[in-house]
Amino acid sequence: MQIPSITLAIETGADYWEAEALYDLCFSPGRSALSSYRLREDVSPIADLCWTARDPDAVLAGVIRCWPCYVGETPVVLLGPVAVHPTRQGEGIAGRLIYRVTQVARKAGWSRILLVGDLPYYSRFGFQQLTGVIMPPPTNPERVLGLSLASDSWAGIHGPVRKADDCILPR
Ligand SMILES: CC(C)(COP(=O)(O)OP(=O)(O)OC[C@H]1O[C@@H](n2cnc3c(N)ncnc32)[C@H](O)[C@@H]1OP(=O)(O)O)[C@@H](O)C(=O)NCCC(=O)NCCS
Repeated sequence: MQIPSITLAIETGADYWEAEALYDLCFSPGRSALSSYRLREDVSPIADLCWTARDPDAVLAGVIRCWPCYVGETPVVLLGPVAVHPTRQGEGIAGRLIYRVTQVARKAGWSRILLVGDLPYYSRFGFQQLTGVIMPPPTNPERVLGLSLASDSWAGIHGPVRKADDCILPR
């Protein structure tokens, strides 16, 4: 669904605290206890894969951020968190943010996107359950999902997911 009145833009420093507040609202302030946050600590997000969605009054309606990480020795995009304000959910805003990020990632040369989430939601974007990709505990393995941005690019990729320790380039 397209929502012409919503404007997508790359997140800037001026958006940061507003985006944090939206994440706290949607996930609760305890969100940093989630295992996926262990992969984000002290690692910079991928700047061109962090986007905001604002309504015509410039109110923040949705946000998405992505981080680099490794699966084994392979660099991948860790998508999320994605959050949409409770009053704007069901309008397709998360869908637009996710499509935008996957398009930009593909153009930038990334081959694989990883996330922890609900397959019934993310399957509509082409995500499938990954077997053999191990997130830091505690993570339900059924929620470890991947999207190939190049032909069958997750084939043969397995192992523990670990933090990006320095600048990693798209692959
Ligand atoms: C999940 C979330 C980002 C979706 O945002 P959104 O803008 O409402 O999503 P969209 O409008 O693109 O899609 C809405 C559709 O997804 C469905 N959906 C939403 N969350 C779902 C889930 N967890 N499982 C299955 N379907 C889901 C809705 O029922 C709706 O279905 P419909 O299209 O048949 O009506 C939003 O609900 C949110 O911020 N939730 C709290 C934070 C969160 O859980 N983030 C995701 C972490 S994995």
